[in-house]
Amino acid sequence: MVKVSPIDAPCGAVITGIDLSSKLSDEAVVDIRQAWLQHHVLVFPEQVLNPADLERFTLSFGHFGDDPFFDPIKEHNHIVAIRRDANEKTPLFAENWHTDWSFQAKPPIGTCLYGIKIPPVGGDTLFANQHKAFDELPALLKSKIEHLTAIHSAASAYSPEGLYSDKHEQNTGRSMDIVVSVEANRTQTHPLIRAHTETGRLAIYSTAGYIQGFEELEEIESKKLLHELYQYQGSPQFVYRHKWQPNMLVMWDNRSVLHKATGGYDGYDRLLHRTTISQ
Ligand code: SIN
Repeated sequence: MVKVSPIDAPCGAVITGIDLSSKLSDEAVVDIRQAWLQHHVLVFPEQVLNPADLERFTLSFGHFGDDPFFDPIKEHNHIVAIRRDANEKTPLFAENWHTDWSFQAKPPIGTCLYGIKIPPVGGDTLFANQHKAFDELPALLKSKIEHLTAIHSAASAYSPEGLYSDKHEQNTGRSMDIVVSVEANRTQTHPLIRAHTETGRLAIYSTAGYIQGFEELEEIESKKLLHELYQYQGSPQFVYRHKWQPNMLVMWDNRSVLHKATGGYDGYDRLLHRTTISQ
C-alpha cells in the first residue's frame, strides 16, 4: 500500500510501500498522483530501476515530454543523463532556479529524476514552492506582477551563444550531452501567475533565465523586476533541500515548484537519469 510521509519542509513527501520496478496498479497511480498534487515533490527511496522501469513509471502519469537540447542515452530516446564526472571542471549544469522547458508552448507538467551515482557530499537539489510564494506575495510586489505576460526563451542557456555553448572555453570537457541550437532563440508567452492545470491553485510560473522579459514592460523595467522576483521566489521559507541517495527516484511538479542543482562534490562522479512528463 502506498504510504505518504510528508517532509517537514515547504514541499515534499516520501513515498514508501511500493515497488516501482513492476507495473503500478490503477489504485497506486491514483494515490501517487494525489500525493504529487498535494506535496509537489515526491521522493521514492530504495527503488532499483532500469531505464525501461523509469520509462514505464513516467508513462503512468502522462506522455513523454519533448526534451530539446540534449542527446538521449543509448536505446532510450526519452531519457537523458544528468551527469558530471569526478575530474570535470565545467560550470555546474542547472545551477539557477528554473522550471523545466517553460519556453515551450506546452511545457512538461512534471519531471522524474533517478539517482544512479550519487556523491557522498554535495549535489543536493533544491525545490522552491511557487504556490506558497504566490500566497505570501507582499501586496506591492503582487500588484506589480499579477497582470503580467512573461516572454520565455531558452536562448540564454541553449542558443549557440548561450551558457552551455562550447564556444565558451569553460564548457570544454562537459560530460553531459547538451546540444545547443538556434531553435533556442524562439519565444513563447505564458501568464506569470498561472493556475495549476489540475488543482487550479495559482503559482508564480517560471523565473529569470527562461523568462526574458514581460510584454507589458520596457526591457529595463522587466530586468529589474525579474531580478527582484528571482530573489523572492527562492527565499528560504519556500525551499526544500533534497539530499540524494543511489536508487532514489524524485518526481516533481513543474507547475508548482522551481528547482536548481547545487555543487560541492568536486572529485566525485554524479549521474542521474531524467524523463519529463507531458499532459
Ligand atoms: C535538473 O535541473 O534537471 C537537474 C537538477 C540536479 O542536477 O540536481
